[in-house]
Parts: sequence; C-alpha cells; structure tokens
Amino acid sequence: MLMRRTASAVRVWTPAKVNLFLEVLARRPDGYHELATLMMAVSLYDTLEFTEETTGATSLHCDHPSLSTGPENLICRAVQLARRESGRSDGVGIRLWKRIPMAAGLAGGSSDAAATLAGLNRFWRLGWDRSKLIQLGSELGSDVSFFFAAPAAWCTGRGEQIEPLRLGRPLDLVLVAPPVGLSTADVFRGVTVSTEPRAGAAIRQAAAAGDVRELGRQLHNRLQPAAERLCPAVADLFARLAGLGPVGQLMTGSGSTVFALCRYPGEALSIARALHSARDELNGARVFVVRSCD
Ligand code: C5P
Repeated sequence: MLMRRTASAVRVWTPAKVNLFLEVLARRPDGYHELATLMMAVSLYDTLEFTEETTGATSLHCDHPSLSTGPENLICRAVQLARRESGRSDGVGIRLWKRIPMAAGLAGGSSDAAATLAGLNRFWRLGWDRSKLIQLGSELGSDVSFFFAAPAAWCTGRGEQIEPLRLGRPLDLVLVAPPVGLSTADVFRGVTVSTEPRAGAAIRQAAAAGDVRELGRQLHNRLQPAAERLCPAVADLFARLAGLGPVGQLMTGSGSTVFALCRYPGEALSIARALHSARDELNGARVFVVRSCD
C-alpha cells in the first residue's frame, strides 16, 4: 500500500492479492471455514483519495458505475468503524478509482477497506499502529488484515491470522479475469473439505527461497473445483493458460480470476500477447501482467 499526503488530501494506492496456495481445513461452527493460505500482493492497484467534507457527512464517489456506493460498501463500513473507534465525527469525501476486477478472487473490496482504515488513520492523525489496524481489519472481512502485512503472508484462521513471509525473489504473473464474478459465500458453500489436506510447508519454503519451479509444482487451491462448477470459464481459462507453458497456473481465492506463474517478466509478456491474439476466444476476459509487490 502506498500513501501520499498533500495539504488537503490523502491518496492511497492499494493492491490486489493472489493466493498461491489455499487449503480448507474445516467448517467452523460460526459458518466460516478454517484456512491455510499463502497470499501475495500484486501490482494492480485501486486508488482512494480522502478529503474534508464540510457537510459533515461521508460521501463516496467511484468511477465504476456498477459498484454500489451505499452503506453496505466495505469502504463505508470501514469509515463507520474508524469513527466508532476514534470518536471522530468529521465529514470525509472519498473518491475511488477502481481498477481491480470485482468478485474476482483478488480481494479488491477488502483492499479498499484496508486502504480506508489506513487512509483515515493518516488523514485524521489517529496514531494507530499496525496491530490495531490488523485487529480492525479483521472485523470487516477475512482478508482485510492481510493488506497491513503485505507483500506476502501465510494466513490461517478465517484468513485473518497473519504471518508475514519474505519472498526470495519477485514473481511475475499474468491474471485473466472473466467478465462474470463469483460470490465468495457461494463458492465456500460448494467446497468439499478434504480428509487429507495438503500441507503448506513446501510452498512456503519455495516462496522464501524464490524457487519458481517448485512454486509452480506446489500451487494449490481447494476452492477451484467448486468455483468451476459455478463458472465453467474458470476451467476453460485454466486449460488455456496451461497450454501456454507457464511454470504453473491456478485460480486465486474464490475466483473467478485465474493466473499463470511465469519464470521471468518476458515470459509473462509473451503469454499476455498470446492471449491477446486469441482475444475473440476469451469471451470478454481481461488480461493483466503483474508482479509481486516490493
Ligand atoms: O469474511 P468475508 O466477509 O470476506 O467472507 C465472505 C463469505 O465467505 C463468508 O460469509 C463465508 O460464507 C465465506 N468464508 C468462509 N470461510 C472463510 C472466509 C470466508 O466460509 N475463511
């Protein structure tokens, strides 16, 4: 997350994430699932700007017409939470430039919520430290807290218990986001909890060592079969990416985005070029060449 303060505004650039590994360990009595997942922030950003709102209200404007800017938006919920915790009642105007595809497994909404907590912390000079932000983030959603520990972390519990992880080298990816998103709750409803969960030690080791080939072998997402049943484009794009020869490919989070893990930046560019030449067959899916964040 990058932040800049000017005389009258705070601007935040907040990234998307991908899951290189996601195992579902159990269903919990509270309706959530116990997870073990390796999350990594990538260089695809939403931008938020915070300014004073003299009316005393909260206003949210977004350049994406299909995003609701009502009170259920996670940004508005984050403002409410920040007000409650800080006792501040000042008005705030928020502008959002949305680039991260929505309902796509890239945690764009969670990233925006994290950016709102971090942005207001700076804008209102609240002095919250990282552990306070992580605790508040977990009240808003399972993968909000990760954005305070990015660029990479091993996450457990609902996803909100975070162990930061240093990548051995930057990773280059191609993301392919179908035009149809998926509801996280729907995908989790269809998941089968394995009696033999995959262990994450090998992928954590490969990530720390920067061993891209081993990372490719260890990519795993237990949610992918459930997402493929709801959205056949996931399986189509997965097979298409496999055919282009990256080191590995996977769906991220609860989908519907799939990604190719590449050996070096040039390989990501040539895979993106190959996808672009076959764009008529992608049925409107969008392609992004990204790198893990520093
Ligand atoms: O926490 P968040 O609001 O992002 O989760 C959205 C939905 O995804 C939850 O209501 C739940 O149905 C499902 N979920 C889950 N287990 C998790 C995270 C999310 O079942 N660890």
